[in-house]
Amino acid sequence: MAKLRVKGIAFDMYGTVVDVGAVAEACKAVAPDPLAFNAQWRAKQLEYTFLRSAMGKYQDFWKVSEQALEFTIRRFGLTISAAQGKQLMEAWLQPTPYPEVPAILSRLKERYPLAILSNGSPKMLQVGLAWAGLRSHFRWVLSAHAVRIYKPSPDVYQLALKTTRLQKREILFVSSNSFDVVGSKSFGFMVCWINRTGAPLDPLGPKPDLVVKSFDELHTALA
Ligand code: LAC
Repeated sequence: MAKLRVKGIAFDMYGTVVDVGAVAEACKAVAPDPLAFNAQWRAKQLEYTFLRSAMGKYQDFWKVSEQALEFTIRRFGLTISAAQGKQLMEAWLQPTPYPEVPAILSRLKERYPLAILSNGSPKMLQVGLAWAGLRSHFRWVLSAHAVRIYKPSPDVYQLALKTTRLQKREILFVSSNSFDVVGSKSFGFMVCWINRTGAPLDPLGPKPDLVVKSFDELHTALA
């Protein structure tokens, strides 16, 4: 593969830089089938971001996540106390980095300015990055909240250009989420898909420039 010549790197947050395993763990305390419960919650959370963007009815990612949780609890016919609900939501504030991520970010930040570009609310991002011990790696932490619409709206990707003052093709955008890969490539970034699970790509648009299984492989491709 040709060497990627970029001047800055922007990362998606959830599922890309950090694992939200704490959320899966919290689901075990309330749901008989925690895997199904968690998958439904995450799917609804994303669906609500898409619906809110399409309707022009923005609410921040914390609120969207709460509403997705409310639906999921009803869908599974569960009764959950206020304290349990709070615990489930707060798990979003305690993400862990994927094992190889901290070391690779330390090396990448010596060579490139790094940014987070996420649908997460500013509070979720600040608290989550601090919890994960990663805040100091990023020069910028950019939230869709600034433009009141969610990825894959071009308005969110545009935030990275405005903030970094780089051109589209000078930015490598890194995400594990297929919708975000398609959206960011359609916007015009150089794009790396972190495909940890061997998932198929949504056949909706241009393909990413690079597909890797981990941050180690990403680092090798940039070496
Ligand atoms: C984010 C979600 C989409 O961090 O993973 O933007």
